[in-house]
Amino acid sequence: MRCGGVCRITVDSFGCELGMNTPAEVSLVEVGPRDGLQNEPVPTSVDFRVDLVERLADCGFSALEVGSFVSPKWVPQMADTRQVLDKVRRSNDTPLIALVPNMVGMNAAIEANVDRIAIFSAASESFSQKNTNCSIKESFERFKPVVECAKNNSIPVRGYVSCVLGCPYEGGISADKVIAVVEGLFELGCYEVSLGDTIGVGTVTGTKKLLLELAKSVSLESTAVHFHDTYGQALPNILTALECGVSIVDSSIGGLGGCPYAKGASGNVATEDVVYMLDGMGVQTGVELEKLVDISKFVFANLKRSPASRVANACLSG
Ligand code: HMG
Ligand code: MG
Repeated sequence: MRCGGVCRITVDSFGCELGMNTPAEVSLVEVGPRDGLQNEPVPTSVDFRVDLVERLADCGFSALEVGSFVSPKWVPQMADTRQVLDKVRRSNDTPLIALVPNMVGMNAAIEANVDRIAIFSAASESFSQKNTNCSIKESFERFKPVVECAKNNSIPVRGYVSCVLGCPYEGGISADKVIAVVEGLFELGCYEVSLGDTIGVGTVTGTKKLLLELAKSVSLESTAVHFHDTYGQALPNILTALECGVSIVDSSIGGLGGCPYAKGASGNVATEDVVYMLDGMGVQTGVELEKLVDISKFVFANLKRSPASRVANACLSG
């Protein structure tokens, strides 16, 4: 099979035939227009964001994060999320998600008619303070009315836990802390909780240990993984997570991203790299690599730099 100028070797058999315990299907959640663009040094235009969301909405992702309703003083890159949602052509196929930290954000999300919201906390107290100006406990106090309001408006709520494998301020984070926050988010009513390796320090061993512990109290079927790729460990970590029973993966087109409150953290794992790996394993995602590479070309021509995705660069150089 060819992608751009590069020959791809496709394994016909499923991973399980090779003795790998991986799912036959993986749901991909694309976070580039939010987690990616929130980290651009100069905020991108509404028109560019709309164009990107419309292109990605046509790819077959299980959900697509379009932006956040957070303080524009804290994250100016996401200030125009309302305008993006007003302008974007809606299709019913791919639900659009926006991040919401509190009731101010929730009211804005309802006015913008977003399909789903995501609430976000952390397994590290220091990160919670830096990111949202409150303790973990206070973040949950803020979430209670948000989730209640979401329920009343039939808006499904996704949950995030940051720093599950390490914190830029506290270093190592114990599994107990992660598990308590994950359980709290499910108890509140989240349909899915995404585990954020915010600064991309996780390794295969840490990932496996955490997921084996987590599986004792939580269904990994409703647990997503969200790896940033700072140390190049995201793909092996994802493979490990799949072998542990996870089948929902967050990724970002071209590897866009980082976190404004996690200095030095690089982008999320690139969607193209994840799809290439899963295609090669015969795991279905419903997302076509060729379309992603075209979108990566569009994004990085606009941003005037090369994608972080190894696969996109290989395909585009062919
Ligand atoms: P605060 O300053 O403590 O809020 O910020 P406050 O309640 O004291 O209000 C202060 C002012 O902000 C008020 O306005 C509020 O109305 C306004 P004023 O009276 O001064 O004119 N305000 C808002 N405006 C717009 N939208 C809102 C909102 N809330 C209050 N929702 C707050 C608290 C949480 C708002 C702030 O800390 C914030 O916006 N933080 C941004 C956090 C963020 O977006 N971080 C990046 C996303 S998380 C991430 O990237 C990690 C993830 O990818 C997973 C992973 O990788 O680990 C998800
Ligand atoms: Mg992130």
